[in-house]
Amino acid sequence: MTGKKIIYKNDLSIAENARKNKCSEATIRRYIRLNNIDRKYDELYLKYKTVKELQAKHPEYTVYRIAKITGYSNATVKKYMAMDELYAKTCSDKLSTFDTSQKAAVVSSISKSQDEILSNILKLHVPSLEFDCDLTYSLGVFYRSLTPPQHRYDKFPIAEGVRSLEDAYLLPDGCFGSVVVDLPFIIKSSEKDKEFSKVVQRFQCFTSKQELIDTNKEMLSLSYRLLKSGGILVMKLQNTNYAGQQIWTHYIVQEYAQQIGFELVDEFILEGKSRLLYENGVVQHHARKYHSYFLVFKKKRRRKFNRTPLKPQP
Ligand SMILES: C[S@@+](CC[C@H](N)C(=O)[O-])C[C@H]1O[C@@H](n2cnc3c(N)ncnc32)[C@H](O)[C@@H]1O
Repeated sequence: MTGKKIIYKNDLSIAENARKNKCSEATIRRYIRLNNIDRKYDELYLKYKTVKELQAKHPEYTVYRIAKITGYSNATVKKYMAMDELYAKTCSDKLSTFDTSQKAAVVSSISKSQDEILSNILKLHVPSLEFDCDLTYSLGVFYRSLTPPQHRYDKFPIAEGVRSLEDAYLLPDGCFGSVVVDLPFIIKSSEKDKEFSKVVQRFQCFTSKQELIDTNKEMLSLSYRLLKSGGILVMKLQNTNYAGQQIWTHYIVQEYAQQIGFELVDEFILEGKSRLLYENGVVQHHARKYHSYFLVFKKKRRRKFNRTPLKPQP
């Protein structure tokens, strides 16, 4: 289910780009959106360039003749013929692929927006530009501005079209190009504690440190089995404090992931917006955690063993 990398040509229309890349126009539109390309500006630039090239090659051509050749209006041709460079408004948060004065948008490892991080992960690591499977889908908040994965699972399914996690265990090995996992990070051992936390009510929680660790390992192993070699696992994680102890989940996960054959290929930090973990009257011993991680793992390709030739028998 992994796709080819899109080769976007700024001098082609969306339909032409789709034909060249042997994909749908929707895929090209998604590529334009994810890469923040200012397509409107690019289209104006294309018109400007066409007019200027014709004018330079055939200085004798009239406005009317160029308009006839290009199919643009007389007014448009007249406007561009009079310009020495293109004066057009660019969209401030987008990039024109023709504007060489602008640096390409650099993907940052830190963001306050989960949507931005997920878009950047797709852009950098998932050529098909959509995730294949989410094993902890919940309400699918991750996909507010993305195409939701075709395969959606959760231990406690609440949204339509989401299957029980048990079904994911029945899937064949290597069936996905990318998998997403976002487990709870809170541990609450007493029912009274659970009642107080909104996060816990919404996303469940673990009842012990061991359960948190075992579940993370279990999901890593399942994802590893379901991924093709070279496939991508995106895991959202947050470290936590429990019973006065720091639990460095993101280290535990990285260590185990590497043990079973994943390679960490990227790391993003999401800066939290709200004070979700505030507890009244508690003396502070450690920095309060206002960030979470999106770790990007790649399932390593199996090495081909160089067979040592058998010793000839005497
Ligand atoms: C933080 S939420 C996921 C939110 C989701 N990423 C979204 O975009 O809406 C955590 C999910 O993990 C699931 N979960 C809880 N305990 C689990 C367990 N022991 N094993 C697997 N999944 C679990 C919950 O049902 C919940 O939907």
